[in-house]
Amino acid sequence: MFITIEGIDGSGKSTQARHLAARLRCEGKKVTETHEPGGWAHGDVLRGLLLNGRIRHPMTEIMLFMADRCEHVAQVVQPALDQGEWVVCDRYNDSTRAYQCWGRGLKYDMLESLIKWCGIPEPDLTVWLDLPVEEARKRMSGRSGGDRIEREDSKFHQAVARGFKELAERNASRFFRVDARAGEDEIAEAVFAELKRRCAI
Ligand code: TYD
Repeated sequence: MFITIEGIDGSGKSTQARHLAARLRCEGKKVTETHEPGGWAHGDVLRGLLLNGRIRHPMTEIMLFMADRCEHVAQVVQPALDQGEWVVCDRYNDSTRAYQCWGRGLKYDMLESLIKWCGIPEPDLTVWLDLPVEEARKRMSGRSGGDRIEREDSKFHQAVARGFKELAERNASRFFRVDARAGEDEIAEAVFAELKRRCAI
């Protein structure tokens, strides 16, 4: 199965991706745990450019995220799926939909065609860690600086959060919403229970 973990910055995705991968390994599954942007051999170069580069044109941003994803799928995700492994990926297509369409205002249909042109798989399950923007900002206030996208204003992050909400409504069978205000272990339990409900583990 191909599982993605999505949500706004500060919603706890990386922690939950780690929990889920560990839990699956305990069940004897072979798991590839990965992330975007940058989760492939030379991904650091694109990640650096995307998060700290001086990018002006919104199409540059969306195309670099998609280029990063194409290589990530070709080099990491698809080979693992072909081997029958489980893939747990921190961010994927829905991040581009929420951040670049709802956040930056790029056309949704344009991105959908781009995704089709890239010929990349959609996940079997998307775990959406739903957290109010104010709560996420509070959690992140202890961290230093933040990257180019994290430093966007609260209006931008509110729009991204609306994007995730709408995407979850549009793709109700693929999405599993978790209230990310709950405790770390409680969330991990809920995610695993949902996975068990969906497929025999
Ligand atoms: P992330 O790696 O989750 O940040 P961190 O490791 O610092 O927690 O993501 C980096 C940023 O990139 C985040 O603000 C979301 C943004 N992003 C997009 O705007 N579009 C995308 O397609 C992806 C994958 C990420």
